[in-house]
Amino acid sequence: MNILGIETSCDETAASVVTDGRKVLSNVVASQIKFHSKYGGVVPELAAREHLNAIEHVVDEALDSAEFAISDLDAVAVTNGPGLIPSLLVGLNFARGLAASHKLPLIGVNHFMAHIYGSFLENRTGELDDKATFPIVALVVSGGHTAIVLVGNDGSAKLVGTTLDDAAGEALDKAAKMLGLGYPGGPVIEKMAKNGNPAKFAFPRSLTGAAGKALDKKDRFNFSFSGVKTALYYHCKKYAESGAGPIEGELLFDTIASYQEAVTDVLAKKTFAAADAFSAKSVLLCGGVACNSLLRSKFQKRAGDKMKLIISEPKFCTDNAAMVAGMASKLLAKGKTDRIDIDSYSRLPAFEKIPFI
Ligand code: KG4
Ligand code: ZN
Repeated sequence: MNILGIETSCDETAASVVTDGRKVLSNVVASQIKFHSKYGGVVPELAAREHLNAIEHVVDEALDSAEFAISDLDAVAVTNGPGLIPSLLVGLNFARGLAASHKLPLIGVNHFMAHIYGSFLENRTGELDDKATFPIVALVVSGGHTAIVLVGNDGSAKLVGTTLDDAAGEALDKAAKMLGLGYPGGPVIEKMAKNGNPAKFAFPRSLTGAAGKALDKKDRFNFSFSGVKTALYYHCKKYAESGAGPIEGELLFDTIASYQEAVTDVLAKKTFAAADAFSAKSVLLCGGVACNSLLRSKFQKRAGDKMKLIISEPKFCTDNAAMVAGMASKLLAKGKTDRIDIDSYSRLPAFEKIPFI
C-alpha cells in the first residue's frame, strides 16, 4: 500500500511517500523558519502564503525521490487538523484536488495522532501488534501540544494530562524570543544550553509539588509553563534594572541551561509519574520537543530497564508528512477513507481511541 502524505498544519510544508505504513520512501520538508524568525513566532497568513508557494514543488519532490508516479499511489493522505486553519486549508485543498482528479481515496489525518504514529515508523511498526508494548503512556510535546495519553492494546486512549496554558515548545519559543534568539526556540536553546550551568538558576517547576506547594490531585499529570516563562521575564528584568546590562555571555548560557533544565525536568517527572500510576509497559515520546537530547536522555535514564522506551528519530519528531502517510495506511487498511469535501479543524477534538490501532 503506497500513500502520499501531505502536511501543512503549521509552518512546515511537507510531503512523503510511505509504503505499508512503515517504509519511508521519501520525506520532504520545506521549512518556513526564515520567514517567521524575525517575528519570533509563526504568522498564520504568511505561513499560508508560503505553503501555497511551496506545496506543488514539495509534493513533486516527494514523488520524484520515491521514484513514484501518481498512478503508483493507493491513496492521498492529508493533515486536516488540529492546526492553523489558513495553513491546513492549503494542504487540504491540494490533496482534495489531487485525489479527485486521479480518483484516489482521500484520508484526513489528525496531526496529534500522527505525531504518536511517527514513533512507530520504519522499524517499530511491529510493536503496535505486540501486546507486550501496552499499556503505553505517551507524551506528545510540541509547539502546539503538551499532553499525556494512556493507550491500551485495544486502541483505547485517555487524555490523562494536558497543559493548562502554554505548550512546552511554546515556552521554549517564547523564551528564545525574550532573549532575542529568534524562532524556533527549541533548537537554539538546546545548542546554547550545552555551554551553561543548568543548576545555576532555580526556575520554577510548576504543578510538580516542588517549592512546598501541595499538588491538587486533578493536576497530577497536568502541566503549566506560564510560571517558568514569567520567572524568565523577571530574571531578565532584574539584570537589566541592576545595571548589569542585557543578559549575555556566561550569564546567557547559564540562564538558558537552567531554563531548559526546568522545562525538561517537569516533562520527564510527570510522564514517568503517569507511567508508574498506570503501570505502563512502555513510554512514548513524540512531537518537536522530543528532538531535545537532554529530554531524550532524561527519558532514557528514567525508563532504565524496567520500561520500553519508544522515541523516533528526530526527523520524525518535528512536523513531517511521513507520520501522516504512515498513519493513513493503517486507516486505509481499516477502510477508513474520507469524503472529498472533508473539512479542517483547529483544536484537538475529544478522543477515546487511537485511530490507527
Ligand atoms: O512538532 P512540531 O514540529 O510542530 C508542532 O506541531 O508544534 O514542534 C515544534 C516545536 C517548537 O516549539 C520547537 O521549538 C520545538 O518543537 N523543538 C525543540 C527542538 N526542536 C524543535 N525543542 C527542544 N529541543 C529541540 N531540539
Ligand atoms: Zn506537530
